[in-house]
Amino acid sequence: MNKHSWQGVIRAYRDYLPLPAGTPIVSLNEGNTPLIQADRLAEQIAPGAGLRLFLKYEGLNPTGSFKDRGMTVAVSQACGEGAKTIICASTGNTAASAAAYAARAGLRCLVLVPEGKIALGKLAACLAYGAEVIAIDGSFDAALELVREIVARHSIALVNSVNPWRLQGQKTAAFEICDQLGGRAPDWHCLPVGNAGNITAYWIGYQEYGQGLPRLLGGQAAGAAPLVRGEVVKKPESIATAIRIGNPARWHEAMRALDESGGMVAAVGDEEILQSWKWLASLEGLFVEPASATGVAVLHQQIRQGEIDPGGKTVVCVLTGHGLKDPDMALQQAAAPRRLPATMAALEDYLLRRPS
Ligand code: F0G
Repeated sequence: MNKHSWQGVIRAYRDYLPLPAGTPIVSLNEGNTPLIQADRLAEQIAPGAGLRLFLKYEGLNPTGSFKDRGMTVAVSQACGEGAKTIICASTGNTAASAAAYAARAGLRCLVLVPEGKIALGKLAACLAYGAEVIAIDGSFDAALELVREIVARHSIALVNSVNPWRLQGQKTAAFEICDQLGGRAPDWHCLPVGNAGNITAYWIGYQEYGQGLPRLLGGQAAGAAPLVRGEVVKKPESIATAIRIGNPARWHEAMRALDESGGMVAAVGDEEILQSWKWLASLEGLFVEPASATGVAVLHQQIRQGEIDPGGKTVVCVLTGHGLKDPDMALQQAAAPRRLPATMAALEDYLLRRPS
């Protein structure tokens, strides 16, 4: 399919998606995101090593995160089964994606989010798309328990990644990466891990596509690292609100994928996440939300600790969501803009006193 006729992941990868014939396709032409080579960042995290680092910029999906790949499939399938209402628990991105696809399909959409812990751009989008946003006084994990229970009682479609159709859609990103690398998988594939759906989906995708298998490197925020600690985290904390999850639904599948790939999962502190977030923006011009920098942060950590030899390796880090999702955090991290009188003298004086 050439890039001018791109019509979303279902049409592009129909043969790999076991949707029943006649399923209506609800799409926003998601997918087909760029894989960007990042030489300046590679030199920063592995000086002189000849690391070939690529960034899969999933923030360029229609609602600004990778969730759209899974949502097109889950919502299409739900419509095919006659669903009228969908529901999810979310740290924000799943909610925004569900809300958009529900709007497009004419469905009612309920989203449960942890009160006060969802980034501004996600909340604004959910409301704009017309979802019913329910803020609960509890964590993502509590919200997920609630939605799992209500779908057992009522005929509502659950579109969290416990829904296997979500993973079917998300696996298509692995196909694209292999195609973009010229028909091969990378040596390492690094990504943030929250509810652990995405890492599970990528592993399915690489296996099905048959162009080689990467080793998986998962990054969790240090304050929300159940997979690393091997136990549920009751009060998950991180600046990376998207992955503030203490009891991932796809825990066992993720551990199996990590194991089968010969990979690993590690915890990175908020400071390390923020450092990578800054490098992505200031060295490569890629503005992402904090959680999205976790793949780069964990790669940097593992190289520094000697666990990964970057020499001549091809490594992909997934940038899962766009920076405009979390403008508050971006402003907190930056110095305020400089103020000057609106005169040429003031501007010229500033320019010459602060040469670039
Ligand atoms: N990055 C971003 C930007 C996310 O929003 C999420 C998950 C992840 C990474 C982790 O992916 O859960 O498949 O391991 N966000 C979910 C949500 C939980 O509700 O939007 P995962």
